[in-house]
Amino acid sequence: MIRYFTAGESHGKCLTVILEGIPSGLRLNEEDINRELKRRQNGYGRGKRMDIEKDRVEILSGVRFGETIGSPISMMIENKDWKNWKDEMSVKETRDIKVMERPLTHPRPGHADLPGVLKFRRSDIRDILERSSARETAVRVAVGAVCKKLLSTLRVNVLSYVSSIGSITAKLPRMYLNDIDRFIKKVESAHLRCPDKAAEKLMIKAINSAGRKGDTLGGVFTVVVNNVTAGLGSHVQWDLKLDGLLARSVMSIQGIKGVELGGGFSLASKPGSLVHDEIFFKSPNKRGRGYYRRTNNAGGIEGGISNGENIIINAVMKPIPSLGKALRSVDILSKKQVKAEVVRADICAVPAAGVVAEAVTAFEIAKAVKGKFGGDCMFGMKSNYLAYVEYVKNH
Ligand SMILES: Cc1cc2nc3c(=O)[nH]c(=O)nc-3n(C[C@H](O)[C@H](O)[C@H](O)COP(=O)(O)O)c2cc1C
Repeated sequence: MIRYFTAGESHGKCLTVILEGIPSGLRLNEEDINRELKRRQNGYGRGKRMDIEKDRVEILSGVRFGETIGSPISMMIENKDWKNWKDEMSVKETRDIKVMERPLTHPRPGHADLPGVLKFRRSDIRDILERSSARETAVRVAVGAVCKKLLSTLRVNVLSYVSSIGSITAKLPRMYLNDIDRFIKKVESAHLRCPDKAAEKLMIKAINSAGRKGDTLGGVFTVVVNNVTAGLGSHVQWDLKLDGLLARSVMSIQGIKGVELGGGFSLASKPGSLVHDEIFFKSPNKRGRGYYRRTNNAGGIEGGISNGENIIINAVMKPIPSLGKALRSVDILSKKQVKAEVVRADICAVPAAGVVAEAVTAFEIAKAVKGKFGGDCMFGMKSNYLAYVEYVKNH
């Protein structure tokens, strides 16, 4: 079992996480994680907070001399902005009204603000928004970075790209997943992590225009798990199905309102004969990879089990709900009609959400790999995995 638990408020001292179940013997250093943290912070359309925070992880346990030792890995990411919020976010009791900020009482539609204050019986929305904020995704990306490192030793890649922003949709280049390294380079060097330069220009214009109007934009990103073996997940029990686990993890990311696998919603209007991916076989002796498909409408998962094709997940991120042009709301003390609180926010965070989704996907895949192949140590996990890959090819 691999599991993790995060803690920390957006303007608190730091974010922390305990990640348990990573086998011993995985080479790991802080730079492996910092690279991923930086990717989460990039992307055109991010707000001023990203100018303040330059996320760096500190590994506190579970790693010795650059190698995991099998014990829980605890990690910490400082909030640089905390120094400006020490009084408002103090853990100490205070009645000093100068120290206590004006309580936030105008809930923002689209946030946990109102349901959160009702549920936890709070009178200051800050008590809710500090934890519901997507700042928490920084530590989930740290977890994902460790899982991606583990998967890379099995030659499994997890990548993402922006498919649409607002009403503008990217066209995929012809090489797409046939030349995965070139495709990744193209995405990673783009301002919006979008593989279509012409579409990206229009997306940037749309973000600028939304920002000028005090508005925000959402979009769709795609996550791909490439070169993963068939046989992860299971059909035998609802909570072991890999598609269900991935959908839950991606849906849990702040702002995500829809998740689909492969053809997803587009399959509704097609007959079965055009949907299901026919099965072929080319022997490894003839430079084939065993069973394969010419289409991938299933998104790499059938019956809750990976089938050896790329796992493809599309997710919809709604437009950012903190608007410059505030929406109508109700003051939770006076019950008068007011405008929602205006707080510092991104205009569009779809590229960053894609990086977070890579992280939660890598976690689910690493967990499924450990479930199937065991592994107190990387040596055992890797040799079991590679032997199984050979068996599948020749079965
Ligand atoms: C990387 C990332 C950055 C985000 N940035 C903001 C932001 O600056 N302002 C904001 O209001 N929401 C932002 N969100 C979205 C909200 O956190 C999210 O919509 C809110 O917590 C409500 O959750 P729900 O949309 O899943 O219901 C961001 C989400 C992600 C994944």
